[in-house]
Amino acid sequence: MFRTMAEADLGRVPGLIGRSYDTRNYRPEWTWLATDGDEIKAVAAWWGFPTGEQPLALDTLYAAPGEADPVAVWAALIRRMPPFDYHLFTTPGGEKDPEVTQRLAAARAAGLSEIVERLRYEWTAGDPLPRRSTRLTFAAEPDDEAFAKIFAMISEGSLDAATREGVARLGALEQAREDIAVYKQMRDPRDRWRVAFDRDGNLVGCALPSANDGGPVVGYVGVVPEQRGNGYADDLLAEITHMLAEDGATTIRADTDRGNTPMAASFERLGYHIFAIRLVASAPSQPEEGRLGA
Ligand SMILES: CC(C)(COP(=O)(O)OP(=O)(O)OC[C@H]1O[C@@H](n2cnc3c(N)ncnc32)[C@H](O)[C@@H]1OP(=O)(O)O)[C@@H](O)C(=O)NCCC(=O)NCCS
Repeated sequence: MFRTMAEADLGRVPGLIGRSYDTRNYRPEWTWLATDGDEIKAVAAWWGFPTGEQPLALDTLYAAPGEADPVAVWAALIRRMPPFDYHLFTTPGGEKDPEVTQRLAAARAAGLSEIVERLRYEWTAGDPLPRRSTRLTFAAEPDDEAFAKIFAMISEGSLDAATREGVARLGALEQAREDIAVYKQMRDPRDRWRVAFDRDGNLVGCALPSANDGGPVVGYVGVVPEQRGNGYADDLLAEITHMLAEDGATTIRADTDRGNTPMAASFERLGYHIFAIRLVASAPSQPEEGRLGA
């Protein structure tokens, strides 16, 4: 039997301990259970913003110990909702654990067949602060539409899989507006977002310090195509690191696709360390009309 979670299940669903149902990041109607009589055999839980009408991602697949075929049960549970991306967290080297491979097999069986590996970087207050840029100037830009235009420029030639998918589906400007809307729902104030200029006053890119429920994060670093190859990614990342550290951050986290090699190299140069891997399984891109997910 498949059903969504009931309030009465809250304390008795193993695998959901510590999940924030009270904040509405997780919700009973976004949590599907496979049951056998009174017994809960497996669970799939989706996560979203407290004000969101739909979840953003599937992030929990749990099976009771001894479950004979978790892959099939999970695949059936995943199919109960439209195809949102599945985010699976593991440690470097943990990609081959059965815990991971079985969950990815379930996602694949449910149509989430495209896998992107995201490196999770971390800077901690024990690490030296990177040198702050002397060749760029930074300014706030309160106009969301101006920011969207800069995001759209930066998306050209991006090596980030989600950006490329979004641009293919929505076009650069609409994808940029969607991104801005998501960043505005994050915790760090909008007025900390920065636009960067070189000494001649030409636009270089943008730097968004941000925060999520886990703490301060590098929201976004982007360099416009004509300014790439000058190492400006380091200047932008250094600025974000300084701003967050000034605000009291002792840990700063950031994700980037393994395939986004210039960005990963910049994190390494600035003293960020890989602490985890995020695997993202998505449905292959579809045109806008046919798509139900985030
Ligand atoms: C990732 C990014 C910020 C790198 O900026 P940058 O300041 O050009 O980085 P670097 O100058 O250190 O680049 C190192 C090398 O990678 C190359 N490179 C940088 N971005 C590239 C891209 N998108 N595609 C192909 N090559 C790229 C540079 O030309 C340079 O090559 P070289 O060593 O032969 O000169 C920039 O590509 C970008 O804005 N991408 C889109 C947004 C993005 O992915 N942000 C990160 C999201 S987490």
